Amino acid sequence: MSATTTAMRGQTLAFPDGFIWGAATAAYQVEGATRADGRGVSIWDTFSRRPGAIADARTGDTACDHYHRYAEDIGLMDRLGLSAYRFSIAWTRVRPDGSGPVNQAGLDFYERLVDGLLAAGIEPYPALYHWDLPQALEDRGGWTDRDTAYRFAEYAETVQARLGDRVRTWMTVNEPWVASVLGYGIGVHAPGRNSWADAFRAAHHLLLAHGLGVRVLRAGGASQITLNVNLAPVLTPGQVNDPAVALSPEDAEAVDRVDALINRQFLDPVLRGEYPARVLPIIERVAGLGHIRDGDLAEIGRPIDLLGVNYYTPCVVRSMPGTPANPAYPGTEDIEFPGAFAPTTATGWPIVPTGLSQLLLRLTRDYPGVGLLVAENGAAFDDVVSGDRVHDADRTAFLESHLRAAHAAIEAGADLRGYLVWSLLDNFEWAEGYNKRFGIVHVDFGTQRRVLKDSGLWYREVIRRNGLWK
Ligand code: NOJ
Repeated sequence: MSATTTAMRGQTLAFPDGFIWGAATAAYQVEGATRADGRGVSIWDTFSRRPGAIADARTGDTACDHYHRYAEDIGLMDRLGLSAYRFSIAWTRVRPDGSGPVNQAGLDFYERLVDGLLAAGIEPYPALYHWDLPQALEDRGGWTDRDTAYRFAEYAETVQARLGDRVRTWMTVNEPWVASVLGYGIGVHAPGRNSWADAFRAAHHLLLAHGLGVRVLRAGGASQITLNVNLAPVLTPGQVNDPAVALSPEDAEAVDRVDALINRQFLDPVLRGEYPARVLPIIERVAGLGHIRDGDLAEIGRPIDLLGVNYYTPCVVRSMPGTPANPAYPGTEDIEFPGAFAPTTATGWPIVPTGLSQLLLRLTRDYPGVGLLVAENGAAFDDVVSGDRVHDADRTAFLESHLRAAHAAIEAGADLRGYLVWSLLDNFEWAEGYNKRFGIVHVDFGTQRRVLKDSGLWYREVIRRNGLWK
């Protein structure tokens, strides 16, 4: 990355040539058509029907109807000038019961989507697992069962066999921390289980699925493979405003422990082939270590080309010795997670753009050799439609401040190759339902009308200039 590529060009704060500008979605959040063309039932179909599970008591049955409106949506992407579209493939469309016969009609949909993207000059970035596990596999243990990882590899191979001649970049698993902790530990996401032993086992098997996926995708000729992880710099309240502030030994220890649990538990196996030493005793105490078998870490640690970083907000902690502040999360019983230290988005997440540059530089320092991609960044705000415009100045400000932070990280040496906005469309925000809108395109869920928000118009200009302006 030469200094000239990122220097100010005229009035533009330019990103490197060839920088990927994209937007992201996920199958269950946008596709709808959950009964079309032989699709099987996923854990989200089941979970979203559980009373009280979803804030507005709705499901992904229709969502943005992207399954039928993908051509119109590609038109929007084209208008935006995107160079990449990240979407996910629904395992249940490809193998409706997870492991049985292949459903060609499901693969046909993704083929139409990929061909449509390529025809518009947009690079497809499919993710193979974005949380919609086939219910039939959950009924046999889901991610707590090692076999699910092998079934994932089988499914990955099937998808690649159909699309591998056109897809260059494959994403394996999305946010294994969220899928395991929220799905199996806390139960606020599908499948809605409440067992920390299950959560730790699920986390390991999701990592194993990733590693086995890398093996088959590579054998099938994939040119770029990435895993998308939700990462958060762990900070004390004081560090949010002043990263250089001195920490007490207790706070420093709390920061390190939480970082090990939420970040390094996933980064180290994938990028170093080992679990962090300080996490293993916690896993052992809660779940035993029997599920981590010889050879697993070599499988999980297979080289990848890009690390997908999903960044929204930092994790803020404070040591509370002697006071079990957070008994719910094993290993953090004496740590408090204070809120209210910065303005927040509509999901209540503090807005801390510098967290993104800190994160990218920390990855550059601690895990050299892997390219970086911001695979998700964005914000929910309570948008108001006025005529055919949505004046979402808060979202534009959020995206701009985070892009400035990303640019600063590139200037300081981070090998950041691209940035994907979450999300292209307002969509089904999991347990929050449809009320939390992350799109740069507004969706009227009654009529399915799409309107490019002001943030989308702004993003289009960023893409056109390959940078920001003063
Ligand atoms: C991460 C997830 O990958 C995505 O599905 C979700 O909608 C966004 N974060 C916002 O919460």
